[in-house]
Amino acid sequence: MTTPPSTPVQLDAAAVQEQLAGIWSLLTPTDRAQFESVVAAIAGRPIRITIGNMKGGVNKTTTAVHLALALALTGDPVLLVDGDPKNQSSLMWKLGAGDEWPINLTVMPWATPDLAKRVTAMEGQFKHLVIDTSPQHDDILRAGLMVTDTFVIPCQPTPMDTAQLDSTFKVAEQMDALKGAQGGELAAIVLFARAKQAGANDTNLLRTSYARVEKKDYPVFSTPLYDSIRYAEAFGMFPRTFREYGKVVAELAAFALGLDEVPGVQGGRR
Ligand SMILES: Nc1ncnc2c1ncn2[C@@H]1O[C@H](COP(=O)(O)OP(=O)(O)OP(=O)(O)O)[C@@H](O)[C@H]1O
Ligand SMILES: [Mg+2]
Repeated sequence: MTTPPSTPVQLDAAAVQEQLAGIWSLLTPTDRAQFESVVAAIAGRPIRITIGNMKGGVNKTTTAVHLALALALTGDPVLLVDGDPKNQSSLMWKLGAGDEWPINLTVMPWATPDLAKRVTAMEGQFKHLVIDTSPQHDDILRAGLMVTDTFVIPCQPTPMDTAQLDSTFKVAEQMDALKGAQGGELAAIVLFARAKQAGANDTNLLRTSYARVEKKDYPVFSTPLYDSIRYAEAFGMFPRTFREYGKVVAELAAFALGLDEVPGVQGGRR
């Protein structure tokens, strides 16, 4: 099977800068300060991530879109691959956002195992790469992991969800071995999502979930995403506030680029 030609991304640098100025002004002062630190820390180095979990409905798409939008604030070209054949929610988000969607953030609906070839064919046309995957297609997940070096695994902080991470960790380990044989590597990190905010028991749930994942020797973002209707409300627009994603993208930059400090974040959440 031959790979269809990719649509070349021709960006007008002046138009990108003009739109970006408007987008920065939409952000809350807290978000703006946070993202300025992150953009400075990234300093033009590429960040390439796949978002995945073999379990459905764990915040993959919400995370992929927020992180891709945050990376678009660098002004560099970003490619967001929608690798979910059933939902295409990343693509729908872009369509909903219309003119608010950053023109330097290209979304490609490539929900087939040949997405790795398609991404490779577009190398040089983007700086940062974010791949959203589907829980039902481990072949698409593997293809995404082949062309990225960081694997972000959103997971609800419950005993059942953390136990079910094993099948996703197995994919991560197999892909790390495969990439290792070719001189590459894959670093996986768990992101707790939809943590409940109220009550001592729930806090305990979060603490034991950190311990469970760390016992399996996987790192976890210090910043959990709390359950909030605000994330659902952001669908189909450029979020006015990224809430916990401001810190998550800072931690992601530090993790992916091997930085000593998390940009713009004083102290952890735990
Ligand atoms: N932190 C949050 N708090 C509350 N609701 C959230 C949060 N994050 C996302 N949601 C909502 O939860 C639902 C599932 O999120 P999302 O689509 O990101 O999951 P997914 O892992 O991509 O799902 P799928 O496996 O079906 O692709 C969406 O309706 C979304 O708006
Ligand atoms: Mg999804």
